[in-house]
Formats: sequence, C-alpha cells, structure tokens
Amino acid sequence: MTYLLALDQGTSSSRSIVFDETGHTVAMAQLELQQIYPQPGWVEHDAQEIWRIQLATARDALTKAGITAAQVRAVGITNQRETTVVWNRKTGVPIHYAIVWQDRRAEPTCADLRARGLADTIQAKTGLLVDAYFSGTKLKWILDNVPGARAQAANGELAFGTIDSWLIWQLTEGKVHVTDVSNASRTMLFNVHTNLWDEDLLAALDIPASLMPAVQPSASLFGEVAPGLLGHAIPIGGVAGDQQSALFGQACFKAGMVKNTYGTGCFMLMHTGGTFQSSQNGLITTSAAQIAPTLAAPRAALPPDGARSSLGRPGAATYHSQPQFALEGSVFVGGAVVQWLRDGLHAIQGSGEVQSLAQSVPDSGGVIVVPAFTGLGAPYWKPDARGSITGITRGSTLAHIARAALESIAFQSAALLQAMSRDAVSAGAAAVSELRVDGGACVNDLLMQFQADLLGIPVVRPAVTETTALGAAYLAGLTTGVYRSTDELTDLWKAERRFLPTLPPARAKDLMERWEHAVRQTSL
Ligand code: G3P
Repeated sequence: MTYLLALDQGTSSSRSIVFDETGHTVAMAQLELQQIYPQPGWVEHDAQEIWRIQLATARDALTKAGITAAQVRAVGITNQRETTVVWNRKTGVPIHYAIVWQDRRAEPTCADLRARGLADTIQAKTGLLVDAYFSGTKLKWILDNVPGARAQAANGELAFGTIDSWLIWQLTEGKVHVTDVSNASRTMLFNVHTNLWDEDLLAALDIPASLMPAVQPSASLFGEVAPGLLGHAIPIGGVAGDQQSALFGQACFKAGMVKNTYGTGCFMLMHTGGTFQSSQNGLITTSAAQIAPTLAAPRAALPPDGARSSLGRPGAATYHSQPQFALEGSVFVGGAVVQWLRDGLHAIQGSGEVQSLAQSVPDSGGVIVVPAFTGLGAPYWKPDARGSITGITRGSTLAHIARAALESIAFQSAALLQAMSRDAVSAGAAAVSELRVDGGACVNDLLMQFQADLLGIPVVRPAVTETTALGAAYLAGLTTGVYRSTDELTDLWKAERRFLPTLPPARAKDLMERWEHAVRQTSL
C-alpha cells in the first residue's frame, strides 16, 4: 500500500492526515493553535508554535496509522492563506508573531494604495481587491514596525513566507525558501498572468525582492523533509492554499466546477480554467492549484534539483505552469452562526443539536436571521452592516430562530453562487450546474437540502469530506507518480449523497427575494 501524508495547517488548528492511495483516511492527528489578540482588529499566531504542533501531529498521525516515514511516498502541505511570517534567514527565528489573515491593521496602507489610484492595476495584475486581508500590506507593516527590520531586509537577512513557506523552511531545516502559485496569489504582490512576483507592486509597498520565496507549481518537488524529523527523508510534492486545495480535492479541475466549504465562514470557489475572469459581482480572481508541466507526461521523472533555485523570482523564466484560475467569494459568518445559537442565545447546548431543534418546526415561520455580525462580504460588501432577526410574530419560537439561523448559511452561499453564475454567463460560459460541498457543516442534511432547494441545482456531498487535506495529498501524489493524471483523481472522487432540489423555482425565488429584502434592512 502507498501512503501520502497531508499537513493541513488551519487558522484554529494544525492537522496531519495519512491517506492511502485511494484517497481514504488512514489516520488523523490534530492540535489546537493559540489565538493571540493584541488589540481590537488584530490577530496573531506564534509561528514557532505552528511549526511545533504541526510536527507533533505529523509524528502522531504516522504512529496512529502504524506506519513509518519510509512508507510515505510524499508529503503535501495545505494551509491557512495570507497569514504572514517574516524570519531571519540565519537563525530561522521569526522577527514578529505571524499576522493572521483576519487581522485589519494594514487598512491604512490599503487606503493609501487606493488614494494613489493603484486599485485597478492591482486588480488587473493580481485578481484581488485592495484589502488588508492579503499578505503584502501585512508584510509592509512588519518591515515598518519591527525595530531594525528594514536594515536587515536591505542586507538580505530576512525571508518572508505564508505558512506553507514557513513549514517548508522548517521541514527542510532552512534549505528551501519556496511557495506555490496558489499561496503566492494571495499576497497582492504576485502577477497571476506571468506567475512572477511583480516588481512594480513590490516597489509600491517598499518590499525588497530579496525577501520573496521562489514560486513553483502546486504539484512539483519542493524539497525533502529532513530525515531526522520524521525518521526518514520524504519528498514534499504538493503545496496549495487551503481553499484551492479543497477545490483540487473535490476534483474540480474544469471551468464551471464549484465547491463550497462550510466552516466557521464559507469559501466558495469556481474553477475558470485558463481564463482570468474579472468579476462584475464583487468576487475576487485567484490562482487555482497548478501542475508542473514536466508532470503532464505519465510517470514523469521528478524535476531536477537545480531547477528549483531561482524559480519565480522576477526574471526567472523556467518551470512555469500554465496559469489556472478560480473566482472566489466568502461568507464571513457561516457555521459561526451555530456557535452564536449555542454561546450567545443558549438555544442549544452543543452544535450537534441544531439540526433537531431546527427540524422541530416545518419551516422558519417567516423569520429571517441575517448574521452580519462583522458586516457582510461578497457579493454585498457592506462592512458596516449589523445582524438582524426579522419576521418575528407572536408564534415565533427559538426553534424558528434556530432554523432561520441555519438557513442563513444557505442564503448567503446561494447569493454567492448566483453572483458566480452571473459572472460565468456574462463571460459566455454555462451557468453553474452542481455544487460540491465540504467542511464541518456539510454533514447537516437539513442545511444541504435547503441549499439545493434555494439553488435549484444538485448539492453533492463527497464520500471523503476531508477534501482540503486530500487536495494536498493528491498534488503530492501527482508529483511522485502515485497518480498519472487528474483523470485518475476524477475517477477516485465519489459522491456520498446528492441533494436534489424539491422546491418549485417560484417558491425558491420568493425566498431569495425575502432574504435580499432583509439584507437591505441591515444597513445602520
Ligand atoms: O483565506 C483564509 C483561509 O485560507 C482560512 O481558512 O480554514 O484556516 O479558516 P481556515
């Protein structure tokens, strides 16, 4: 049996999963990650802790699987995106806590970029809207605010990385400083058309190019895990940001295929193939996972070691994959609304109870919950909106509110998917025909059925819902010849259940209109 080890470094925890070659989970280990909130709007992680717990879970997963590192063909890495680490190249020690993707401190820098008229250029080159979410302005903040950082950067002493780069640096004991295209595309410094760091954007944020990692296709050889760490050297063959990795793990390889991950928030991505599509509906364009051209041939040899050294730096011209793109939108409060039912309203004791409470009434009785706790993201972009409960009557109960809260996850996702479909159709493509789902809340049958009813298309839950980690394992398996092509992965993907729409389209339209009406009322 061939095994693949996926390291899945998320916002709230680090996990390691051993998969067999058919994509089944053999063993999993997980450790929580400490969240650091130095002041309102700021969120940090200790990058040293991230490395420590990631290594611990990798060792634990191998032990639980009853295998040794020598039996693992390759390691794949997937990670929370945008989170920014800067470390000293000599000591390997970070010069500041990692600034997490949720952190808003870089907003003044973004306002400055907008005032300088750079928003359109940035969107054209990177696919992104200027926002403190992305890494570039966080990196600038570290250089500007850590004493001595600018001087060290000028001397070439510092390295920048998203979490994948940081883990690879540690796994290779400081030998490799690299990232993949999907993570690079979240920095606002990366030209997604050329797959190179953009010199103009680096200059606009005053970031020396010497800090930047080399950039490789997501399925390519990134280096080797040092033998002392897990007991044997293992090639690192796949790297992708978690949402692009989930798109890959869902076998969404073709234009028009869409996945939605139902976590604390929801992330919806639609593959657009080789087409860079700008959204007219408030979505962003991002690089999808890409495969090294040398791997296009069956059982291709691994790329030569020397081919890695300067890849992706401005001016480097080798080892480029064909750009692949996705449209992306996110819902800020998805599964988090269930936590609010539990911790805020005390309507349930544990999250698992939400389905039975919601199911104790036939519908929400006209109640609509808009969980705009931190404003509303795509496609509304109402940062000042606040949550609301509307449509309450004398007969409304906690069960109606719980049902409405659950339905809000589906309403927000439906609005995103409709925006994507509008973008697809205006670009001459077909409307979305099915939605693949994953993430914690996709186990909720009531929610998935309501999602299908609202969308009027099948909602499909795969047999393996660990699709984020699976995507990284698949990428690593492609690089090391476990799989010949994505066709093989398409064959491995199996649906566990298809939720077919049961609601008449006119009724679904009416429900969406009521939802949109409630959203309009959330402006302060
Ligand atoms: O863009 C942020 C995203 O990658 C975070 O994902 O699952 O770690 O919350 P997650």
